[in-house]
Amino acid sequence: MQEIIITGASRGFGRHVALKLAKTGRRLHLISRSESADTAAQVIEHGAEAKTWRIDLSQTAKLEKTFSLVLDAIETEETDFIGLINNAGTLNPVGPLGKYDTEEYRSHLELNYVSPAVLTHLFVKRFQKSPVTKRVLFVGSGASQRPIHGWSHYCSSKAGVDMLAQTIALEQDSMDHKVETAVFNPGRIETDMQELLRTLDKEDFPLVDDFIASAKDGRNLPPGQVAEKLVSLFTAESFPHGEITGR
Ligand SMILES: NC(=O)c1ccc[n+]([C@@H]2O[C@H](COP(=O)([O-])OP(=O)(O)OC[C@H]3O[C@@H](n4cnc5c(N)ncnc54)[C@H](OP(=O)(O)O)[C@@H]3O)[C@@H](O)[C@H]2O)c1
Repeated sequence: MQEIIITGASRGFGRHVALKLAKTGRRLHLISRSESADTAAQVIEHGAEAKTWRIDLSQTAKLEKTFSLVLDAIETEETDFIGLINNAGTLNPVGPLGKYDTEEYRSHLELNYVSPAVLTHLFVKRFQKSPVTKRVLFVGSGASQRPIHGWSHYCSSKAGVDMLAQTIALEQDSMDHKVETAVFNPGRIETDMQELLRTLDKEDFPLVDDFIASAKDGRNLPPGQVAEKLVSLFTAESFPHGEITGR
């Protein structure tokens, strides 16, 4: 049985990743704040097993306790593949630093950067000595490579994730049973996140017209199509360990 944890599986890209991963011989652990009941039902229809976990990943001080329950549910005796896909993320609040609520700003950084770092730490700590295939994939963004007005927290947290994945990969190279890590940048995909962007004020997000045009011109890809690419990369025999890959 392959055991795979996916964060942000209730909707958007993470939901499509879960559906593409759903096949007999896999157990998926679906994490989000809301119950991922619809995703789980469809995953089960496709022949996989599914467990749902309601965890607010921005509450990072509680992750050792909450995520340990997920790790406890993984049956290490019966598996040859354990995976973690760090997908959950947010853009809110969009706007220049200094403008919005401090708590919202802090929570953004906790979700987009601290939570994937802590989840991966707990995953590696738990499974380092296990001889099975172990993979962690971070869902990154092109925003990690360039500053975008209104996205200081998003660009910097995604840049942090790129460096996190590359540094872990370097460390894992000297381990007996390495955990492979990589970043997957999906490009623009048509999810709630894109919908939200199109409603923003130009003062907060001067690029809004470009994002409206991108949706109109069909430049935003359907999430299912991009999820297919992620899943083939994640489950292939060879994995782009230490790399930042894209769709
Ligand atoms: N959409 C794009 O064009 C695009 C482009 C590049 C990169 N990405 C990246 O792709 C990933 C997925 O984005 P998306 O477009 O699918 O976003 P989305 O449609 O907004 O979905 C976000 C997912 O994350 C979960 N989530 C949000 N806050 C959470 C929290 N505090 N704790 C636990 N789960 C939480 C949500 O579920 P709940 O609300 O139920 O918690 C939902 O399942 C993100 O990392 C994003 O940065 C997206």
